[in-house]
Amino acid sequence: MSAPQRPPVGADLLAEIQRLKEERNAVILAHYYQKPEIQDLADFVGDSLDLSRKAAETDADVIAFCGVRFMAETAKILSPEKTVILPDMDAGCSLEDSCPPDQFKAFRDAHPDHIALTYINCSAEVKALSDIIVTSSSAQAILDQIPMDQKIIFAPDRHLGGYLARKSGRDMLLWPGICIVHQAFSETELLKLKAEHPGAPVAAHPECPPHIVDHADHVGSTSSILKFCAETEADVVLVATEPHIIHQMKKARPETEFIGVPGGDGNCNCNMCPYMALNTLEKLYVALRDMEPRIELSAELMDAARKPLDRMLEMSADSVGKGDVGKPVMR
Ligand code: 13P
Ligand code: SF4
Repeated sequence: MSAPQRPPVGADLLAEIQRLKEERNAVILAHYYQKPEIQDLADFVGDSLDLSRKAAETDADVIAFCGVRFMAETAKILSPEKTVILPDMDAGCSLEDSCPPDQFKAFRDAHPDHIALTYINCSAEVKALSDIIVTSSSAQAILDQIPMDQKIIFAPDRHLGGYLARKSGRDMLLWPGICIVHQAFSETELLKLKAEHPGAPVAAHPECPPHIVDHADHVGSTSSILKFCAETEADVVLVATEPHIIHQMKKARPETEFIGVPGGDGNCNCNMCPYMALNTLEKLYVALRDMEPRIELSAELMDAARKPLDRMLEMSADSVGKGDVGKPVMR
């Protein structure tokens, strides 16, 4: 048996990815938390809502998804006739891991008068058990369309759910999941940075805990934070989300300094998503060459999971990847 062919290197690698992409009639979608070299060769870079919309509307035969598994699954559910490949199938998400479908079903069964508004960062099985999917871009607009007296379960991110509950004055039942990346931001390090850069605005993702969000001048999805940063006139912005997005911020506003808020004691890389980091150009090349690893889900599961995703797309039709969780609210 001949040894598997090694990926080419340097410019040859980029050229081969391009060649395979054309040969396969593939589109490359990437999330803002991907490595800069992946963002730069993708056909489209966006937040979870933008990427879902792109996946639903593309006429490519193959979607090469540079993000995490739940995002690639969403693409497959919204475009079941297409082949969806993910460079590394181990690219999971701590929020997905925090919400096993059997436990979520038991929780739903225990609260039959609640609807389940579920963050897109979950498995296809949990989506299938939900009423409406939301992203951080679409959550506020969708919540605004649900009557105030409707009881709601929000899963799996307790920080996004808590933030929305405080902002809307609703009393939602929150699943206790967290994003390990946004949970890691250090308030002490943030306060040090604020002291070093007086007046620098703080932009934070709502997956951050309240002790970070409370210091923010802008709270929103990755696309919303990017928009804020592109429009700011500040010389320095402190960024409390996964720092690979700073690549796009620098392109949008080279004259501003964007500083990623550190995690832990400031000496770790724990503000970087270890799952997103699994994707590399070499793995993307191999995935396009071998059409593996690919997302495979049963038709029955996809049909059930598509309903709450379609509801999200309908209910957020005007809310747009500009969709903004908005100005911060205090606890
Ligand atoms: P958005 O890009 O939708 O803001 O989501 C952030 C995230 O954590 C993706 O995993
Ligand atoms: Fe999941 Fe957090 Fe990574 Fe996003 S940043 S994929 S929420 S672990």
